[in-house]
Amino acid sequence: MVSIEEMAVFCKRKGFVFPSSEIHGGLAGFFDYGPLGVEMKNNIKRLWWKSIVNDREDVVGIDGALISPESVWKASGHVENFIDKIGACKKCKTKVKLDKHEIGIKKCEKCGIVYADEGELNPMFETSVGSTGVKDKVYLRPETAQMIYVNFKNVLDTSRMKIPFGIAQVGKAFRNEISPRNFLFRMREFDQMELQYFVREKNAAKIFKEWKKIRMDWYISLGIDKKKLRFKEHDKKDLAHYAKEAFDIEFEFDEFGWQEIEGLHNRGDWDLSQHEKFSKQDLKYFDDQTKEKFIPWVVETSSGLDRAFLTFMFNAYVEEEVKGEKRIVLKLHPDIAPFRIAILPLVKKDGLAEKGREIFDELKTNCNAFYDDRSSVGRRYRRMDEIGTKWCITVDYQTLEDSTVTIRERDTMRQVRAKIKDLPDIIKKLSEGEKLETFGNFIK
Ligand code: GAP
Repeated sequence: MVSIEEMAVFCKRKGFVFPSSEIHGGLAGFFDYGPLGVEMKNNIKRLWWKSIVNDREDVVGIDGALISPESVWKASGHVENFIDKIGACKKCKTKVKLDKHEIGIKKCEKCGIVYADEGELNPMFETSVGSTGVKDKVYLRPETAQMIYVNFKNVLDTSRMKIPFGIAQVGKAFRNEISPRNFLFRMREFDQMELQYFVREKNAAKIFKEWKKIRMDWYISLGIDKKKLRFKEHDKKDLAHYAKEAFDIEFEFDEFGWQEIEGLHNRGDWDLSQHEKFSKQDLKYFDDQTKEKFIPWVVETSSGLDRAFLTFMFNAYVEEEVKGEKRIVLKLHPDIAPFRIAILPLVKKDGLAEKGREIFDELKTNCNAFYDDRSSVGRRYRRMDEIGTKWCITVDYQTLEDSTVTIRERDTMRQVRAKIKDLPDIIKKLSEGEKLETFGNFIK
C-alpha cells in the first residue's frame, strides 16, 4: 500500500518527476519529468505508437498544433459545453469540481459541510495571437482529438487510406482544472495518446468493441495486473456532449481506488459534421467503389500518458524485506523501465572498469543501458532495483580470465554466468520472456 503522496516523494527522490517551477514556489497542476521519468514516458509513448500506428496498416499519425482559433472549439462544442461546476467550502475555502449529481449534496472531506455552488468554469486556457490592434482569441487545446478532425481531409487526400482507418496523435492537452490533485492524476497540462478511428455507422458498435479489447490487452501485455483493471460504462445520461457510448478503462490505485486511466468513446458523426458546418468545407468521405458520400462515424480511444505512467508506477512499486533490510523494487516491464540493463564492474581498479565500459559501449546501441562503477555493488544493485532495471551485468575478476560476466535478475535477485559475446542475444531473448536459467545454472 503506497499513498499518492508517498509516490510523489519517491518520484522526486529518484528523479522521475519534479513539481514544476519549484524553486519559484511551484504551480499547482504542473509537473516536470526528470532524467528517469522522461525515459519511461518516452518508452510508454513509443510502445503506444508502435501498437497503434507502426504495427498496423490502417492507422497513420499526425502531430498537430497546441493552439488553434476559436472557431475550432466552437465547432467541437467545447466553448459552449465544456463546463465544470465549481463547489467551494465556506469554511476552509477549498474549491472542487462537482459533477451534476453532487451539487447541493457533496460535503467537504475536511470540514463536513456541503460545498456551496460557486458557479461554472470553462477549463480551456484562452490566449490571443497578433501583435497590434485587435488580437484573435485562441485556445490551448483541451484534447488532442480536434487536431485530427481538422486534418481529416488533409490526411485522406495524402495517405490513400480507406475506411475503416484511423489517425493517431500523442501530445499535450491543457485544462484549467478547478482542483488539480493526486499528483499526475489531475493536472492542468498533461499528455494524451489519442486515436480517432473512422468507420461506417453500421460498423461503429462492433469496431468499438474490438478497440475496447485491444486497449485493455495493451495494458495487460505490459505487465499491469489484470485484477486491477476493469471497464466502466458511462450512464447514457452522463455522456459527454459528443458521445453516443462511452467506457472508461479503470485502474485500482492503492489509496484512491478505481479511477479512469483511459476513455473510449463512440463519437458518432458529431465532430466531422460540426467542423463541416463551421468551416463550410466538405468533410465527407467518398467511397469510389460504392460511390457513396458520407460523414464517417468515429471510435475514439483516449489514454492519458501521465495516468498511464502513474498506473505503471503503482502497479510496479513493491517494498519487501531482504536479510532484515527494506528493499524497494519497481517491478516494471523491461520495455517500460528507464533502463533495461545496467553494467556494474565489481570494483573500479585492475581493469574491471575498462572492461565494463567496453561491454556498455557495445550493448547501449541496442537498448537503454546504464553504467555505474561507484560504491559497493550491493548498493548499486539496490539502486537499480529501485528504478526498475531488470538485469544487472556484473564484471568481476573472473571476467578478465574467461570473458564471462554475471547476469542478475531484479525480482528474484538470482544470477547466472554467461559469455560476454552472447550478451546481445541473451538480452534479446530475456526481453522476449525467456527465463534466466535457460542461459546457465544459478550461482549459489
Ligand atoms: N478526446 C476525449 C477526451 O479528452 P477525456 O475523458 O476528457 O476524453 C481522456 O480524457 C483521458 O485523458 C483520460 O482518461 C485521462 O487519462 C486523461 N486526462 C484527462 N484529464 C486529465 C487531467 N486533468 N490530468 C491528467 N490526465 C487527464
